Amino acid sequence: MIDRSMDASHMPPSITSTEGPWWKRAVAYQIYPRSFQDSNGDGVGDLQGVIDRLDYLKWLGVDVIWLSPIYPSPQSDGGYDVSDYRDIDPLFGTLQVFQELLAAVHERGMRLLMDIVVNHSSDEHPWFLDSKSSVNSPRRNWYWWRTSPTAAEPPNNWESRFSGSAWEFDNASGQYYLHLFATKQPDLNWENPLVREAVYDMMRWWLELGVDGFRMDVINFISKVPELPDGAPTDGTPYGDGKPYYTNGPRLHEFLQEMHREVVAGRDAVLLIVGETPQSTTEDARRMTDPDAHELDMVFQFEHVTIDHGQNKWDPQPLRLSRLKRSLGKWQEALAETGWNSLYWNNHDQPRIVSRWGDDGVHRQTSAKAFGTVLHMHRGTPYVYQGEEIGMTNPTLTSIADFTDIQSRNHYAEAVEQLGADPEKTLTSMRPLARDNGRTPVQWSSETNAGFSDAVPWMAVNANYTLINVDDQRQDRNSVLAHYRELIRLRHSSDLIALGSCRLTHLDHEQLYVIERSYQREQALIIANLSTDPADVPDDLRRPAELTLVSSNYPDSPDTPAGMRTLRPWEALVFMSYHAAATALGAGEGTVRRRS
Ligand code: NOJ
Repeated sequence: MIDRSMDASHMPPSITSTEGPWWKRAVAYQIYPRSFQDSNGDGVGDLQGVIDRLDYLKWLGVDVIWLSPIYPSPQSDGGYDVSDYRDIDPLFGTLQVFQELLAAVHERGMRLLMDIVVNHSSDEHPWFLDSKSSVNSPRRNWYWWRTSPTAAEPPNNWESRFSGSAWEFDNASGQYYLHLFATKQPDLNWENPLVREAVYDMMRWWLELGVDGFRMDVINFISKVPELPDGAPTDGTPYGDGKPYYTNGPRLHEFLQEMHREVVAGRDAVLLIVGETPQSTTEDARRMTDPDAHELDMVFQFEHVTIDHGQNKWDPQPLRLSRLKRSLGKWQEALAETGWNSLYWNNHDQPRIVSRWGDDGVHRQTSAKAFGTVLHMHRGTPYVYQGEEIGMTNPTLTSIADFTDIQSRNHYAEAVEQLGADPEKTLTSMRPLARDNGRTPVQWSSETNAGFSDAVPWMAVNANYTLINVDDQRQDRNSVLAHYRELIRLRHSSDLIALGSCRLTHLDHEQLYVIERSYQREQALIIANLSTDPADVPDDLRRPAELTLVSSNYPDSPDTPAGMRTLRPWEALVFMSYHAAATALGAGEGTVRRRS
């Protein structure tokens, strides 16, 4: 086994601080490979395409790349249905190209995280094929098989997260298997120690290849209450709520600690392990990210990205800013002393932030910058999702044919075909929050197919690519891209932003997002008008003296808080105390003012 724990040459120069782990200063970037860059003209992004774009990511200031799954897969769920955990899907390349990618990432002083999907596998994984082959298979118990008392009814009332029952009947054995996601994603049975050992062995294998950590897919679903009890009835559906029985289950912490011992221990200093943990509370997250617990370094929580869900994600509601602030403010407070936050608006499961809560019409650029500013000025590790840095918007999803995601398609089929809902109303309810929104190809240039591919892309490029693309924005010092690059630079050069305490104030205000940061004797005030109407600035916010402007999304914002009266639509300002500002901007005193 290669022990890289002492290999300082591996440390990217921008984050060699002695205070705390490297990832406390890092900015991560998520690549959803099929939509990132096609290099071989088949309309699907691939690993060579990622290699070709690494210089861009380095230029942007990225420290660590999270690569969504690239393993062999039937691709029923964009690769989150893995049929071989130790190889690369030919769609994306080969193991050799992967190794070239890893070397190229490291050469540029960046790091790479693999996406590990082990709550479930594909039903085409040899483990499942073996498990399914006979009730006597030695691997039968690697998955959740159950006989139902009344064979016509599934063993319990849980609903799959992709519509329908969470159980699939197997004719050959007369038993059902559990799948919390698609029928082609059977849940692995972590109660079985052989399953756990196989997973740990696979993770060690990737570490030996040289990867720098993992993003662990729905990792808080791995421990289920073994009796799999019925969930409480949920209004308007024939299903019960199984979440309390499969989320943050009784053995979760034991399993995470075991995984840490078996895989991570001894290399903690160089690795980053981030868990995706839907439905987790601040208490759960604090426990999982407490360094003394040896479980995870940080988690992706979901509270803020479900704040505009009504009954569910197909029932979108307008954002109430006060709720968003209360939520993120609570997470900041809860993980202030113990644990660590990850910060995100976007990923491959979320709609684009500028369309979701910003204004993707008249104020597109300003509102995209405002959301970037707000996120990046929190304490935690920010994750930029491909295309977010240029303010990519939701596409126009006209008919069901424009939706490619299994979650969207299953929902439509259930609502319209099984329950007889109105097709147009169903589509209207799906458009704002469908995962398809985040999956259109990256808009690199104004050339054919946005420079993503020479062939017809697997999913249509957003029609606005001639207006929004990387090439144009690289030439423009006022672009959304330039603003994101500046935000990343601010974090890298400022202890105040990376490490300082973080408090949200004015929580009841429905337009202003206000953050106070402080570190040693330095302070920052971040104030953003997250609305299209002008917003008067309360007197108390204009009082702090000795603060100077370091970032704005307007060319003529006031130099000090005292100069603020009314913030214009989506105006977002960062003020810092004088010395912090000078350090952050890397400028001599007297030239601390800079704008993007
Ligand atoms: C979370 C992933 O982010 C999502 O894309 C996937 O569908 C589910 N987990 C199931 O793996």
